[in-house]
Order: sequence, then structure tokens, then C-alpha cells
Amino acid sequence: MPTFDNPLQTWTARFAKEGYLFGQDPDSFLAREAYRIGRGAEVLCVADGEGRNSVWLAEQGMRVTAFDFAPNAVEKARRLAARRGVNAEFQISDTRRAQALKVLLIVFHSMTGGARQMAEAAVRGASDEPEVKVKLLHAAAAGPDDVLKADGYVFATPENLAAISGVMKDFFDRTYYAALDRISGRPYATLICAGSDGQNAARQIARIGTGWRIKPIAEPLIVCTHAQTTEAILAPKLIGANDLRRCEEMGAALAAGLALGVF
Ligand SMILES: Cc1cc2nc3c(=O)[nH]c(=O)nc-3n(C[C@H](O)[C@H](O)[C@H](O)COP(=O)(O)O)c2cc1C
Repeated sequence: MPTFDNPLQTWTARFAKEGYLFGQDPDSFLAREAYRIGRGAEVLCVADGEGRNSVWLAEQGMRVTAFDFAPNAVEKARRLAARRGVNAEFQISDTRRAQALKVLLIVFHSMTGGARQMAEAAVRGASDEPEVKVKLLHAAAAGPDDVLKADGYVFATPENLAAISGVMKDFFDRTYYAALDRISGRPYATLICAGSDGQNAARQIARIGTGWRIKPIAEPLIVCTHAQTTEAILAPKLIGANDLRRCEEMGAALAAGLALGVF
């Protein structure tokens, strides 16, 4: 019989029952007071259980990260979010681990899917590292707060017109001065998806990195899609397995270094 000598066992047994232990509606105090938190605010739901509060907050337009130490509760929370059609980030964690977790921010932009697949591969590689929380954000959705709160970065962008894409540039324009002198020394990696070149985009990110005084952990990884005609350039891209593996390895290396504190 589980007892509170073993809280994880106790709560896992409770959450193993059919249905939702506390229902699927938010806590009444939270529902009453949540107007104080603005839409788009970043919210952390601690000991979130089966997700009734986190999912409801995501429905109100908040950017939600939630954790609970019971894996079966987190699974139910993920299912509740999927059923209700909202995005929230769910982790299996407790307060001590959550505080110790390092954050790897992966910012990407992509017009035809190549750089997005590269960024997602980096996420896969980094996600094997239990001590690192991986945050994947579209460049348009990433802001200064995301940059300041991260411990390391991956920037993934297409090369368009011999430069990083406009949306990626806009991300750096919005975050550069807010983060200047506040993120020095943090590690980063660059992923470029290009038709046939990619060098200028890589140089631009290196220059921004020098300004921020962040440290590249490797040479920029450039994948060329070899599209030549207008039709081919505008067509959806499929990045090959070998190149995706290289992106995964980049994500894994950055995450492992963050976890070990070697950067
Ligand atoms: C407007 C535009 C400009 C481009 N300019 C370049 C370029 O200067 N150098 C290059 O190597 N590829 C160039 N390309 C090709 C893209 O880099 C290539 O299609 C890549 O797959 C885009 O990445 P994405 O699939 O993530 O959007 C250009 C594509 C577009 C649409």
C-alpha cells in the first residue's frame, strides 16, 4: 500500500485511476483570479497533476510550461491539451529538478520547411538529455525574455538573398540590445538551410554572436538543398537523413555540454 513515505508512488497510484482525479475544469480560485495575468504572459504550473489548470490557462492565451513528477499525470495532461486543441509544454519533473534544468532555446525560421526540419532534428538530439529543457520557438514568437532565460542557443535559418531570412533578422533586431551584456559567454550553434551557398547567412549570425559575446560550439552547419529553378526554390523541402543526423548531433552536443557545465 503506497504511503506518503513515497509521494511519487502515492500520486502515481492516484493518477492511475480512470478519469481525472480533480476533474477537467480549472481550480475555482485560479479561474477567478487569472484575469490578473495578461494574455501571452509566460506561466509556470508547478505540480500540475493531470493538466486541468495548465490547459485552461493555455486556452486563455498564456504561454504555459507545466510539470508534475508523476509520469502518468503528465501523459493525461498532454492528452487533455491535445483534445482541447491547445499548446503547452509539459515536463516530468519536480521542483528541485526544474530549478536545476538548463534551458536550450532553438529559434528557427523557414519558408519551405528545410530549416524547420533542421531545427526539429536539433530538438530531437537535445531531448535525450534529461537535465536540459529544450524550447523550440518560431523566430516571430521568440522575444528578449526567451533569450535572457536560456542557457544556450541554436539559430536555424534559411539563406535568402545572401542573408539570414527577414523574419530571423527581425528576431535579432528585437532582441539584440535587450540581451547585450547579459548573455555573454553562453554557447550557441548555427544551422543554415541554403540553396547552394549559405556562407553569408552564417557570417551574419557569427557577427551577431560576436556582438553578444556568445560562444559558437562548432562551425556553422550548412545544408544545401540544390534548388535551382524558381519552381524548385519555392517547393517544399525534404532534408536528407544524413543531414538531419548532423543537426541531431549538434543539438545533442550542445545539450550534453550544457548539462555537464563545460561551456
Ligand atoms: C527569396 C529567396 C532568396 C534566396 N537566396 C538564396 C541565396 O542567396 N543563397 C542560397 O544559397 N540560397 C538562396 N535561396 C534558396 C533557399 O536558401 C533554399 O530554398 C532553402 O531551402 C530555404 O530554406 P527553407 O526551406 O527553410 O525555407 C533563396 C530562396 C528564396 C526564396
